[in-house]
Amino acid sequence: MKKVLIPVLLLLALGMSARGQQPLPLYMRTDAPLEERVEDALQRLTLEEKVALCHAQSKFTTPGVARLGIPELMMSDGPHGVRAEIEWNSWDYAGWTNDSITAFPALTALAATWNPEMSARYGKAVGEEARYREKDVLLGPGVNIYRTPLNGRNFEYMGEDPCLAGEMVVPYIRELQKNGVAACVKHYALNNQEQWRGSVDVAVSERALREIYLPAFRKAVVEGGSWTIMGSYNRYLGQHCCHNEVLLNDILRKEWGFDGCVITDWGGAHDTREAALNGLDIEMGTYTNGLTSESVFGYDQYYLATPYLEMLRRGEVPMQTVDDKARNILRLIFRTSMNPDRPWGSLCTEEHYAAAKAIGDESIVLLRNDGILPLETDGSGQILVVGDNATRRLTDNGGSSELKPRRTISPLEGLQALYGDRISYTRGYACGRPLYERVEEVSPETVDSLRREAVARARKADVVIYIGGLNKNAYQDCESTDRQSYDLPFHQNELIEALLEVNPRLIVMNISGNAYAMPWAERVPAILHASYLGSMGGASIADVISGRVNPSGKLPYSIPYRLSDCAAHASGDPAQYPGIERGEQEGAPIPGSFLDSGSDPQVTYAEDILVGYRWHDTKKIPARYAFGHGLSYTTFDYGKPEVSSGRLNAGEGVHIRIPVTNTGTRDGMEVVQLYIGDDRCSVMRPLKELKHFKKVLVRAGESVDVEFTITEQDLRFYDETTRSWVAEAGTFKAYVGSSSSDIRRVVPFRY
Ligand code: BGC
Repeated sequence: MKKVLIPVLLLLALGMSARGQQPLPLYMRTDAPLEERVEDALQRLTLEEKVALCHAQSKFTTPGVARLGIPELMMSDGPHGVRAEIEWNSWDYAGWTNDSITAFPALTALAATWNPEMSARYGKAVGEEARYREKDVLLGPGVNIYRTPLNGRNFEYMGEDPCLAGEMVVPYIRELQKNGVAACVKHYALNNQEQWRGSVDVAVSERALREIYLPAFRKAVVEGGSWTIMGSYNRYLGQHCCHNEVLLNDILRKEWGFDGCVITDWGGAHDTREAALNGLDIEMGTYTNGLTSESVFGYDQYYLATPYLEMLRRGEVPMQTVDDKARNILRLIFRTSMNPDRPWGSLCTEEHYAAAKAIGDESIVLLRNDGILPLETDGSGQILVVGDNATRRLTDNGGSSELKPRRTISPLEGLQALYGDRISYTRGYACGRPLYERVEEVSPETVDSLRREAVARARKADVVIYIGGLNKNAYQDCESTDRQSYDLPFHQNELIEALLEVNPRLIVMNISGNAYAMPWAERVPAILHASYLGSMGGASIADVISGRVNPSGKLPYSIPYRLSDCAAHASGDPAQYPGIERGEQEGAPIPGSFLDSGSDPQVTYAEDILVGYRWHDTKKIPARYAFGHGLSYTTFDYGKPEVSSGRLNAGEGVHIRIPVTNTGTRDGMEVVQLYIGDDRCSVMRPLKELKHFKKVLVRAGESVDVEFTITEQDLRFYDETTRSWVAEAGTFKAYVGSSSSDIRRVVPFRY
């Protein structure tokens, strides 16, 4: 082996091909600088070849340049695992038998770990799987900000706070891309609802855009170094985000220096001239509605195909536009499909399952506990498990993030493995069948008989574990539809109340990527909240319930008491959500599509920067469970902080060291959160904003010092008059706490 390899490597280094001693063309020489290779390849391409690079040739691939040995790009969803193979030219699954994978927890779960090391493990593992499946671009992760609990896609994102989402997305991307697989951060930008997502025009202040909606994307690009980004379906300033001059040319390219590829969301391009001029590189999915209907148009009719070629030939758009796109695409190809140094990847390894399990473990949030948890495994009482989510495979459905896992452990199986035949199960409720435009209700007889059965059995049980929540069906946690209510679906509130009446020893474990109303919360002894946890979910859930794992997840979004306590719904004005249809819109929508409204909808983010806890804090509207909340089976005491100085000078930092002591009898992990508030400012500011956090393991009875450095950057707001970031002189406060509503220490300082 070695004997052959050494001369080959030598030839490659000399730029010779092994067979004919011909020097390798520069673009093929991996020892040459990337930009030189790009320019070399570019000047060999015909105009037709350049244009061909810019659009799909199948549902999930784009062509290379066969004549020059430049390979195609293979893409796949993302972001919670590598999706099963889709047919070349239809949305049907291809039915392969070698494409099952490890299902990782949803990104809301990852965010709930508040642990960037978990992001790194996630990115590495999913990257290895993508590579093994021979993908060049993985369509994820998503960092759209959680603005309303009705958004059907919140489970694919990382919560309501730009600092949390930004810190968590970077390690995912870096580790993923070490496999020679590009991340595709999505959906850039302002895709915060599914209703009318294909056409809704988002009216938002520049300040809210900069402070809330863009920072995680910026981090993904600037610090994560993402090689691609996906434009979103919606519009901003009246222009579709896939070819939006401000978002793509001005901010992404000029300000952030992005040198990767902008890829449309599937069917997100709408205009050739704008696509040519406004920074789009690759057009995917046009003439399909993205999910249900098939195209009668060929790929050569895409906006960036023949129509673009003709405009170029007629001189209606500059040649420079196609050269720039081809450059970006070639750069992506050299980084991925034409990168001979990338590793081979691996699939469904024990290490990947261990990563999925560890992320799941750290993501489960203990919302409330009067001491009933953990539920010891060596007891003898009968445990009744109730709820559809105890057995449901929550990797199915949900839209493009649907997965085909090789192995899954359901919550019921996880509990049975620990508690054996102490466990019995009854379903308790059934889900309505999702139809095209609505959900078919379950008959009252079925609701009643399932409930009666559960109540009768709960009466006799020693303890009841309820496992419900949302699921991945339409109008739940599911792409392309929003939820229709803040309540738990399928009459679950009534069921929980009925169970409580007959057995107060009730543990509620809800699985959901979103907040929901909990009118029974004060009467239930323990409540756990988990997101969709993938292959190992049942094992994580059972381990947390039994105390084998001490919970350490923290909410990445607030859980308001009622929908009207949430900023986006406070006014009750439909202009704020879901928006108002303003009349006829140019360009007919796709017939029958639920993605588009043909009548020019606009949504106005009237709450501005006061999203999530920023709203609850500033308006003094407490959430039922605040952003950052999550209990443990132990308790933590925050000692007196040591502060390096009471004054922060520009270019320096204030260092804060705070001892955190585990005052209980179990080892546990705590997420120490640091928020900054500006006492007085020339513009309105939220009471406080998350700027730093650290997750630490503290052994029972021991202390750990947690350190933070506050810099001038942490004090800034976006000044709309000067269009720049400003820190005003004055008094600030650092709030250090265990959640946004559980502040343990306040450190004032001057700037
Ligand atoms: C979704 C994207 C997804 C794409 C490809 C679109 O409908 O919005 O997130 O990556 O389809 O499946």
